[in-house]
Amino acid sequence: MSRKILLEHDDVPGIETFDVYRKHGGYRSVEKALKTMSPQNVVEEVQKSGLRGRGGAGFPTGMKWSFLAKPEGVPRYLLCNADESEPGTFKDRYLMEKIPHRLIEGMIVSSYALGANTSYIYIRGEYMWILDILEKAIAEAYANGFLGKNILGSGFDLDLRVAPGGGAYICGEETALIESLEGKRGNPRLKPPFPAVKGLWGCPTVVNNVESIAAVVPIVNDGGDEYAKIGLGKSTGTKLISASGNLVRPGVYEIEMGITVEEFIYGDQYCRGIANNKKLKACIPGGSSVPILPAHLVTKTAEGTDRLMTYESLAEGGFASGSMLGSGGFIVFDEDQCIVRNTWTFARFYAHESCGQCSPCREGTGWMEKVLNRLEHGQGTLEDIDLLAEINKKIEGNTICPLGDAAAWPVAAAIRHFREEFEWHVTHPEESQKRNYGLVLPKSTLV
Ligand SMILES: Cc1cc2nc3c(=O)[nH]c(=O)nc-3n(C[C@H](O)[C@H](O)[C@H](O)COP(=O)(O)O)c2cc1C
Repeated sequence: MSRKILLEHDDVPGIETFDVYRKHGGYRSVEKALKTMSPQNVVEEVQKSGLRGRGGAGFPTGMKWSFLAKPEGVPRYLLCNADESEPGTFKDRYLMEKIPHRLIEGMIVSSYALGANTSYIYIRGEYMWILDILEKAIAEAYANGFLGKNILGSGFDLDLRVAPGGGAYICGEETALIESLEGKRGNPRLKPPFPAVKGLWGCPTVVNNVESIAAVVPIVNDGGDEYAKIGLGKSTGTKLISASGNLVRPGVYEIEMGITVEEFIYGDQYCRGIANNKKLKACIPGGSSVPILPAHLVTKTAEGTDRLMTYESLAEGGFASGSMLGSGGFIVFDEDQCIVRNTWTFARFYAHESCGQCSPCREGTGWMEKVLNRLEHGQGTLEDIDLLAEINKKIEGNTICPLGDAAAWPVAAAIRHFREEFEWHVTHPEESQKRNYGLVLPKSTLV
């Protein structure tokens, strides 16, 4: 069932302005939290909601908040991660562009819960037009007394700033984001210490994704228990999905967690099937970092049960036959698409975006790109396929941050499920060059 909670009123003209947003119930959660709840109450509601971080890892938001150190006389920070650079993921862009006040409202309530008096939205460097939208909305929130000193007479002060990102995928990794915000090169930090203890300027810091922070608004308005009733099992609430690839209706969808993958791909309310009457070949359900699934494992698990749009169901079968919900970047491939070419395209991205700090990632992503380039262009050998698997093992788990894993997993999965296609590129070097293939990500039609 389609259920709009985060994107509620996204079709109302002028919803990006304070007045229209307010007329449609905007900023109620700030009034409720600041006038009737203690910061601890807000944290408890988020814990009850079962909300899991929407940035990719799915870590429980309330638990993360409860880890925040609170030493006397030291400021705390909330950083909103709006870096959104994962290929296939463009949901945060839609939310910020359409309903910027939803994020600002979430930032105010979340900052109140965490005791942060200065908070930042760190936004992807290429989203400059959204930076303008956010700054305009923030100015409106200041003018109407929802930001600044003594908000609504509660005694709570909050300054909210927008910081443009460094234009690098790695700056979305939370500790690289912190480094970048401090004015340094965005290299990930060794953990521990975790940001909750030593984050921005060495102070306790929470980093959350745009969608996670926006979800705090309905949680405060309706209560954590009500929110937890939406969704399925430990996948509570709704999820924004960026759907792209060979679909009849790609776009950004808010789904209730627990619908079947089949309904999402073929349902009238969602993507309406594979474009041009083609057959489904494969799907990457959670952004470029997660394993690809061949058609027979997309809508069904290896056990033959329905695959659901939840953290658990998409991961069912582990890496042998499952994948991950990740950041909800749902990329669909039709029968004409070449898996080798796509794997190479993503490998090029990771080789380019590796920060270079850890040798296994710096060297390994470059080697994978070179080997895949050979295979894709009809110059590879059968040994190259095993070499890729070897390089993979050398990267996985051997780096400071998960970018190395994110580069390695998709290659391993592509070989696991589509080995014959890699071999075909070796045994048919000329034919493999003639095929008209290559995934074209259509401009998203927003729904
Ligand atoms: C290379 C890399 C890039 C990342 N990019 C993003 C991003 O653009 N947005 C995001 O929210 N999280 C991103 N993450 C995850 C963050 O490190 C962090 O887990 C997340 O912001 C926490 O928010 P959440 O708990 O609300 O999901 C990235 C992680 C890695 C390793």
